[in-house]
Amino acid sequence: MYIGLDLGTSGLKAVLIDAAQTILAEATAPLEAVRPEPGWSEQAPATWLDAADAAMRGLRGQVALDGVKGIGLSGQMHGATLLDKNDEVLRPCILWNDTRSSTEAATLDADPQFRALTGNIVFPGFTAPKLVWVARHEPEVFAKVAHVLLPKDYLRLWLTGEHVAEMSDAAGTSWLDVAKRDWSDDLLAATGMTRAQMPRLVEGSEVSGQLRAELASRWGLPKGVVVAGGGGDNAASAAGVGVVKAGDAFVSLGTSGVLFAASDAYQPDAATAVHTFCHALPDTWHQMGVILAAADALNWFAKTVGQPAATLTKGLGAVQAPRRALFLPYLGGERTPHNDANIRGAFLHLDHAADQAAMTRAVLEGVTHALRDNYDALTSTGTQIKRLIAVGGGSKSDYWVQAIATSLGIPVELPVAGDFGGAFGAARLGLMAASGAGVEIATAPAIERVIEPDASLTAAFSDAHARYRASYGALKGLT
Ligand code: XUL
Repeated sequence: MYIGLDLGTSGLKAVLIDAAQTILAEATAPLEAVRPEPGWSEQAPATWLDAADAAMRGLRGQVALDGVKGIGLSGQMHGATLLDKNDEVLRPCILWNDTRSSTEAATLDADPQFRALTGNIVFPGFTAPKLVWVARHEPEVFAKVAHVLLPKDYLRLWLTGEHVAEMSDAAGTSWLDVAKRDWSDDLLAATGMTRAQMPRLVEGSEVSGQLRAELASRWGLPKGVVVAGGGGDNAASAAGVGVVKAGDAFVSLGTSGVLFAASDAYQPDAATAVHTFCHALPDTWHQMGVILAAADALNWFAKTVGQPAATLTKGLGAVQAPRRALFLPYLGGERTPHNDANIRGAFLHLDHAADQAAMTRAVLEGVTHALRDNYDALTSTGTQIKRLIAVGGGSKSDYWVQAIATSLGIPVELPVAGDFGGAFGAARLGLMAASGAGVEIATAPAIERVIEPDASLTAAFSDAHARYRASYGALKGLT
């Protein structure tokens, strides 16, 4: 048996699979990000460990865990977890959707070696500019930084006692030479850091360490359970849905929204604001467009109107042509395609007919238009998408998936019931590390339904997308 742990922003999920990759048990524990200042987003790393303990106990309550051989990790990317020389946490983790370091990011991005070596814009949410922000605003903290770990790698430290990162998550720090799959001493030096502060690197399907005996006995696991490198949540999800070779792609409607395409080679195009990262599997890379608020935008609206998000989407019926009302989902700034930490969300063109249903449709359409922007950015780099599968909580809304299929003009596959996200992909990476299996086990799930584009609405979605694009230009100056 193999376990996958996915440390998300709104919860930690654990899945247990057998050698045939059948899911035997699942457990979750909630997490919350706090926003102490506008644009900030933080979490206390201790809450991740409590959540992992709760989820592991949740699995154990369903199935005896004495047959477990491997654990894989998946997690929210880019967070800066700062530790002193005794591995004590120095401050709350600064998360992926925190844009406080936009000035520092722009300064690093203007230094040509960052785009040349990482293949990416230095986005404010990435790890390196956060360290420059800490050096500037919290110098007493910066002086004590002995280790910087990404969120799931801090979880790994607790699980194994080892400081280790893997390539897919490391690629989102702005310190990795993404072609060479190694830390860049030059990029580290440009932010006042050294390799000694960075974890050892492994591939996602390699062994990173063994589960500590104390935790093994607490959860009823045998001795010698290996912990795989795992992956950033998007790369781990890709492993989970078999998006592992050129032509394969997925759209994720989680807290963030991601359009992810696997690639056989390193083909960066930083200017498009597309992310080019290592995949969680050796000799593989991927590209993705990332929007900061997908389900997060719907959840924000649901909270504002005091209704569960599922209630809002359930009553919508079949997809309609977008009306005049527009929603821009830039609640915390945007990455692809704008790289704009200052832009904020907006409803535009509301009239007397704009009731709750109309505004819900505008929110779903706004995120759909943002994903269309990502599609245009990805395809402009030459990336082809032959197959697109939907994952994440938002994919439970047929309305949303139908709108995305229509806007992008490609059929979207929905897997059979089951969770094929980051936790499942992490469990697969755990299986690979423990058994020596390779990419051949990262197969696509059985598809329950394919949602086809609605050709009668294509022109209406294109027109609405053009108005959406123009609205960004108009709003940009109104900070
Ligand atoms: C990817 C990104 C998000 C987080 C969400 O670059 O920032 O998708 O990984 O968990």
